[in-house]
Amino acid sequence: MNAKKKTILSGMRPTGKLHLGHLLGVLNSWIEMQGEYKCFFMVADWHALMGEYENPSGIKENSFEVVKDWIACGIDPERSVIFVQSMVPEHLELAMVFSLLTPLGWLERCTTYKEQLREIKERMLATYGFLGYPVLQTADIALYGADVVPVGVDQLPHLELAREIIRKFNGLYKKDLFAEPEPILTKVSKLVGTDNRKMSKSYGNCISLSDTPEVVKKKVFSMYTDPNRVRADVPGKVEGNPVFIYHDLFNPDKEEVDDLKKRYKAGKVGDVEVKEKLTRALNNYLEPIRERRNKLSDEDVLRVLKDGALKARIVAGRKMAKVKKCLHQIT
Ligand code: TRP
Repeated sequence: MNAKKKTILSGMRPTGKLHLGHLLGVLNSWIEMQGEYKCFFMVADWHALMGEYENPSGIKENSFEVVKDWIACGIDPERSVIFVQSMVPEHLELAMVFSLLTPLGWLERCTTYKEQLREIKERMLATYGFLGYPVLQTADIALYGADVVPVGVDQLPHLELAREIIRKFNGLYKKDLFAEPEPILTKVSKLVGTDNRKMSKSYGNCISLSDTPEVVKKKVFSMYTDPNRVRADVPGKVEGNPVFIYHDLFNPDKEEVDDLKKRYKAGKVGDVEVKEKLTRALNNYLEPIRERRNKLSDEDVLRVLKDGALKARIVAGRKMAKVKKCLHQIT
């Protein structure tokens, strides 16, 4: 009965407020996992700094925003350990250890690294630190003995490297000090943005979890619909139409949605009515999140993070002591 709960760890770089796509993808998976696993959720601020070291001023505020979004959506600080990477110094210590035994070739061949160097030209990313991105990520996972790491597909190369680095450590020093982590793919959110492309901050087509009712309304009214429907009395298409994708996801009143669809297909409803009803549904959906979020002050978040760092350090410190023993370091 009382089988030991497995541990998961996952992290997000603090790049800004989270949006509906995050909620339907990663966040809902995390929230569900809280019942089944011992959970560590980490703000990867060192990883953010690796890209933003020239201009680090936004990272602190973004960290607070991200944690507010997490808690408002249902990540529960009583059940899960919520912490910031840089508040637990053991991450860097273990990353140093792993860096000793990670061949340069493994990192240079990493597809995510090569892609970022190619794609991102406006920041100088050809640094020693950025090359070591997956080494630090391995330390994040290994410190807590995470068995399972929920990530999106884009992170799979890092998970594969983590398994290799851990295997190498175990082979050199101590079999089984670290478990080899298994990735589980979080549902990829295919939620479209307001312009019918994938919802993404870089496209400016997001509805944020913290948007006010007025902003939500404005964004809904700017949403793409059926491009061929030039007037309300022209029959329109419902499939693949962002407004109806959203109605299906966020409007619990199925009768209303069916009625709108029927009339839309017959050319008997205007966009304004469809969008007004969507605005109402979305705002009802977001209201409890907004309410919880607005009640959270920075002090509340700081308290959660300090408490989380204490809890994380107990686990991380124990693991690091064992690592030092393997390396014959004086403690
Ligand atoms: N690299 C991850 C991302 O950009 C964030 C991250 C850092 C992470 N450390 C982690 C994810 C450890 C999972 C486990 O999404």
